[in-house]
Amino acid sequence: MARILVTGGTGYIGSHTVVELMQKGYDVVIVDNLSNSDQAVLDGIAAIVGTCPDFVQGDCCDTAAMDALFARYNDIVGVIHFAASKAVNESVEQPLKYYRNNLMSLITVLEQMKKHDVHNIVFSSSCTVYGQPSAEHLPVDETAPIQKALSPYGNTKQINENIIRDEAHADAQLRATILRYFNPIGAHPSAMIGELPNGVPQNLLPFVTQTAIGLRKELKVFGDDYNTPDGSCIRDYIYVVDLAKAHVKAVERMLANQAEEQVEVFNLGTGKGLSVLEILNTFMQVTGVNVPYQIVGRREGDIEQVWAKPDKANNVLGWKADTPIEDVLLSAWKWEQKIRK
Ligand code: NAD
Ligand code: WQD
Repeated sequence: MARILVTGGTGYIGSHTVVELMQKGYDVVIVDNLSNSDQAVLDGIAAIVGTCPDFVQGDCCDTAAMDALFARYNDIVGVIHFAASKAVNESVEQPLKYYRNNLMSLITVLEQMKKHDVHNIVFSSSCTVYGQPSAEHLPVDETAPIQKALSPYGNTKQINENIIRDEAHADAQLRATILRYFNPIGAHPSAMIGELPNGVPQNLLPFVTQTAIGLRKELKVFGDDYNTPDGSCIRDYIYVVDLAKAHVKAVERMLANQAEEQVEVFNLGTGKGLSVLEILNTFMQVTGVNVPYQIVGRREGDIEQVWAKPDKANNVLGWKADTPIEDVLLSAWKWEQKIRK
């Protein structure tokens, strides 16, 4: 079977995608520099799938290492490029780190793909490229305007999308699928893999589960005075396993030469917006665990509301995020309990 190179494959979304790929019979090789993940993730993957994926510890920005990897694995037919730094706050404090890592890793991967005759890439982008869509663009589809990035991290996603478009323009053989994720949450139902945030979590769900288990005193809800039904911000929370499956669909579509455009873009969300308070209350309801919280002021740079119109992914990619939010929240809770044992 065909081999897929998964960069950043020991990370949160990457590891779930590796599982789905392997379960579909793909051979996988992961490259990860372990800057934001642990090699033990490979054991979790093996526990689910039955075999361990090939793993190369290395940096995607390292031309020689990537050249050697493509030479060694000459059966690679496509790349899923997850490897990137992703902490929005950190990117504001250390923009050069983000521009270097996120831009250089993509550029190096594209260069080595070309050199080694690999022509299919799936790229992890983000709904952050839309900023706060105007009311007429909510829910947001792929044609909504791209807005000035609110952080260096967000800017790297916009620049990388453009790098891919420019390279596709110059190289007629290149095929790319840009996937714009909304808010990925949850963990594999086996609780063998999940999200491992570094330090104090910035994202909502890891903060909720860490508060529920007693690691944090209380959750701060950032604002209840937004122009939304309950005053808290609205997002499109998408189950990481559903998200992972979309990558398999994207790979299959490119390998079968079904793509209608050289560069295709898909929004990956559920199509349903949920507020912070809805997430919190549903979490407490389904787990039966109380999560102490306090409403505090707004978080700087937060977007009031954004959720996806995933029709293109539903109809063209043949993919739908359909896991009920209750199950998703329970998976996150099961994972939190597992890692604190
Ligand atoms: P993650 O940090 O868990 O995974 C990224 C992995 O890439 C990590 O294992 C890290 O060690 C590795 N990595 C980073 N730089 C590398 C390099 N130069 N060479 C090799 N490995 C490197 O993050 P994630 O949540 O799984 O995100 C995966 C991708 O999806 C990222 O590109 C991220 O920007 C994007 N994304 C994430 C979210 C989200 O909320 N999690 C939302 C939208 C987009
Ligand atoms: C969700 C909601 C917070 C923590 C970020 C990135 C974005 C994308 C996904 C990669 C917001 C509220 C949060 C807390 C809270 N990543 N919240 N208390 O801000 O939508 O997006 O991650 O591309 O680029 O910016 O996600 O999980 O941080 O926040 O009230 O302790 O939860 O205000 O409304 P966000 P998030």
